[in-house]
Amino acid sequence: MSTSTDATASTAERYRAFADVEASGMSATYEAWADGVATDAAVQALIDELPPPKRQPNLVFSAARLLGAEPGPYPAFAAWLAEHWSAVREVALSHATQTNEAARCALLLPVLSGIEGPIALLEVGASAGLCLYPDRYGYRYTGHAVGGSVRLDPIPGPGRGDGAVELECTVRGGTPVPVPSRMPEIVWRSGIDLNPLDVRSEADVAWLDALVWPEHDDRRARLSAAAAIAAADPPHLVSGDLNEQLAALAATAPADATLVVFHTAVLMYLDEPGRDRFVRQVGDLPGHWVSAEARRVLRGIRLRDEVPNEPSDLVLALDGVQVAWAQPHGRALTWAPNP
Ligand SMILES: C[S@@+](CC[C@H](N)C(=O)[O-])C[C@H]1O[C@@H](n2cnc3c(N)ncnc32)[C@H](O)[C@@H]1O
Repeated sequence: MSTSTDATASTAERYRAFADVEASGMSATYEAWADGVATDAAVQALIDELPPPKRQPNLVFSAARLLGAEPGPYPAFAAWLAEHWSAVREVALSHATQTNEAARCALLLPVLSGIEGPIALLEVGASAGLCLYPDRYGYRYTGHAVGGSVRLDPIPGPGRGDGAVELECTVRGGTPVPVPSRMPEIVWRSGIDLNPLDVRSEADVAWLDALVWPEHDDRRARLSAAAAIAAADPPHLVSGDLNEQLAALAATAPADATLVVFHTAVLMYLDEPGRDRFVRQVGDLPGHWVSAEARRVLRGIRLRDEVPNEPSDLVLALDGVQVAWAQPHGRALTWAPNP
């Protein structure tokens, strides 16, 4: 079956896949809109004015919402889109899907807890860098495998205050998650992105907001609070391809800190040779490698399929060894017992 990001599939197929697989159960609005587009030849003809990589539902819908399309039934959306198509097309052409989800730090934290610090954190595919602040957010891990609920307060830092971010992560399964009793010490944070977004720019934060799906109000609130934390102490983000920039940026990390290279929801943007090249490069660096990626884009990681998981779960791995299954937005974790 095609996926919504498969640029070789027809627009009807891509929107059908998005409705049935990605939006189903996640966003009633996007499911209805994608379902409508999948059988609407007139709207497909508009979308087909875009180059194939830009026809993806997430990009077109986010562009429309940035420009004011309101969640609602498909016929009203189709009429709105026809009226505003030239503006939507311009936004789709000039923007990319680069959702930045701070809640993925709830996946990162237990892995960081097992690494001796101080830590120099380097994120590839960082978007605006909101995942570079795992020590500045609060966490609640809930579920029977952690004995009810574990709470960890953030390290106070610039921008913290009323808007403090608390991330809730449900622990699934019977293996306890190694939630640390205190935050990791992070002494350096840097990232690489093809198009780094700036948390101090209203336009960039508005685009990040538009990328959050309509019904996900909790994620929108978190985005704004996390952006305020990051804006008070902005991350160092390098513009460029992760394979081209990785070695040079890693070389600038402090020598007396442990380098941790990490990435979440990024490898799908690379072709197969690009993924192989990245895995080789990261293996040549000192320190550790933490990844949270969809199973279909992984390289060289043994899957723990004996542990119950959802088809959409990400594979959380340390140094190429899977440690857990993870809900893609950081909402839940299933830790794998030691093999
Ligand atoms: C879906 S976002 C994920 C952002 C962040 N890791 C998170 O989990 O919130 C993927 C990011 O990877 C970036 N990206 C894609 N291909 C890249 C490449 N070859 N080099 C650097 N960044 C890339 C995109 O620009 C985008 O910002």
